[in-house]
Amino acid sequence: MDNRAIGVFDSGLGGLTVVKELHNILPNENIVYLGDTGRIPYGSRSKETIIKYSMQDIQFLKGNDIKLIVAACGTVSSTLPKEISQNLGVPYVDVVFPSAQEACARTSHGRIGVIGTAASIRSNAYGKTIHSLRDDVHVFANPCPLLVHLVENGMIEPDNQITRLTVEMYLKPLIEESIDTLILGCTHYPIIYDIFNQVLNYRVTLIDPGKCAAQYVKKVLSREQLLTDRTEPGVTQYNVTDQVSGFQQTASLFLGETVSGTLNQVELV
Ligand code: DGL
Repeated sequence: MDNRAIGVFDSGLGGLTVVKELHNILPNENIVYLGDTGRIPYGSRSKETIIKYSMQDIQFLKGNDIKLIVAACGTVSSTLPKEISQNLGVPYVDVVFPSAQEACARTSHGRIGVIGTAASIRSNAYGKTIHSLRDDVHVFANPCPLLVHLVENGMIEPDNQITRLTVEMYLKPLIEESIDTLILGCTHYPIIYDIFNQVLNYRVTLIDPGKCAAQYVKKVLSREQLLTDRTEPGVTQYNVTDQVSGFQQTASLFLGETVSGTLNQVELV
């Protein structure tokens, strides 16, 4: 048993879709969240910059005495080399492996689509992981650079025509490949889950990285005997690198609940 917090980080608020699922399935765990809101987006940056920023995020979390680190960001998960992520001194969970595993388990015809930021798709991390699990499936990927901005700007209503048209444009080549399963390979995307479903006529299985990663965290904590033995609800500490004003309102959309817990603006070194 271990009552230290779970550390979760993202380039911004998308990682809160992982926190939401952790709240659902591990309600007694404490969480320390870091959103690097001052430097979002990561997805359009070079590999070197993404690794540098990720290391600073991880250092911050490690300074908060955490027992496990979750890279709640498709971009970081796709980019951070294993030599780094497997030598952090605490278990590390990303969103790529759990999502790839779920897609491989659920695909009906072996035609899996992947969408994500430019950096995630360029790395082919999802494709490589899927093929390491199953060599009999086809993977079709398309970067969707505009979606993070639309989501961060609150254009998330199911009837938002701009977001819907953008999703249609990005999914067209994948629909033409008759995908049966789609990995939402960026933690911002589950916020517009309904729009994806509408554009795909509810015919494609959507893989939510937040849900998959949270289940995987539970599995790892249980396997490593690191689950809390607290019986009361855990507390979440939110940290951002840009101003905190407006955070409560936007964050509650990602969390699906009112933000409760402390909120700090922090500087990364
Ligand atoms: N949440 C990030 C991801 O999952 C996307 C935002 C960014 O580009 O930094 O890839």
